[in-house]
Amino acid sequence: MSDSSPMRVIIDTDPGLGEPGSDIDDGFAIVLALNSPEFDVMGLTIVNGNVDALVGTDVARRLLTRLGREDIPVLRGALDPLVRPMQPVRALFDAALGGAAEPTSSKDLLGPTSSEHAADFLVRQAAEHPGEVVVIAIGPMTNLALAVQRNPAFATNVRELVLMAGAAETYAQNITVVGDFNAYVDPEALEIVMRSGAKIRMVGLDQTSKVMLTRDDAAAMRSRSAVGSFGAWAADCTEAWIDYLGKAFPNREEHRHACFLHDPLVLAAVMRPNICQWADADVRVETVSELARGLVVADRGLALAPPGPFNATVAIGTDVEAFRSFFLSRLALVS
Ligand code: RIB
Ligand code: CA
Repeated sequence: MSDSSPMRVIIDTDPGLGEPGSDIDDGFAIVLALNSPEFDVMGLTIVNGNVDALVGTDVARRLLTRLGREDIPVLRGALDPLVRPMQPVRALFDAALGGAAEPTSSKDLLGPTSSEHAADFLVRQAAEHPGEVVVIAIGPMTNLALAVQRNPAFATNVRELVLMAGAAETYAQNITVVGDFNAYVDPEALEIVMRSGAKIRMVGLDQTSKVMLTRDDAAAMRSRSAVGSFGAWAADCTEAWIDYLGKAFPNREEHRHACFLHDPLVLAAVMRPNICQWADADVRVETVSELARGLVVADRGLALAPPGPFNATVAIGTDVEAFRSFFLSRLALVS
């Protein structure tokens, strides 16, 4: 592989774009990846998260069809977190809206493109291309932890794991005060990944909450798109998600007019590392305490007590304008 060839990338994701009451950011991250010559997207591996993995697989397949990229493999992975059930997390969302969300439509769900488990696909691709595959994980880390458990060499066969998880500099203020969704849903998995020995970069919610997609962005997307096109549909999805967030998080002013672009920032930071500032850290995940479940502690050695060995590089700053212009210019390619 020469330096100029596209980077081999697998996106481990929990896409909900188009599903009522589901975060749209994985979908936009996939769109960004597929419109970036810097990436050779080898496959999408689907994990339980924003939606269950059956629905996430269907969402991914339909999104790829919209984008004319049915050639990309879609592999289904974990249906549940490693240890705790998912239902209590879903119940938090239902409670925030004062009742259960509309059930997923009764349409037939599209299945994966192969029966290979997502974790086995990750292990196999990393082994077949040692030192080349970058796995960008933008859902709970269950599939990655299973890959490490099934084959510990996965950690050293990959070129890098780039994770959307936790928060390096502040509290997440997301599912709980300390737990971002991805870390909170499966902290045991995240801890396994962090201890795996892989080269790891982490972009946390403290950074991803700086980048937003607004109602004005959605209107601009619609105005340059034909009726029935991807852009018009994506604009509808964006407005529906902002409406949902406004109800679920009534105390957050920003959700009256915008949603976060958590996952797209992570992909952009792989292609343009200068979009973020970085620091090495000893990253650990709280799995025992109820109060602090899913807390990610990134110790950069600034405190009195010495950190353990550094196991990750974490984002500690974001050039919001550089991200926005990069993201919006790539998105404009698919209107
Ligand atoms: O906490 C942010 C993460 O959970 C993102 O990956 C997003 O998709 C979400 O719901
Ligand atoms: Ca996600």
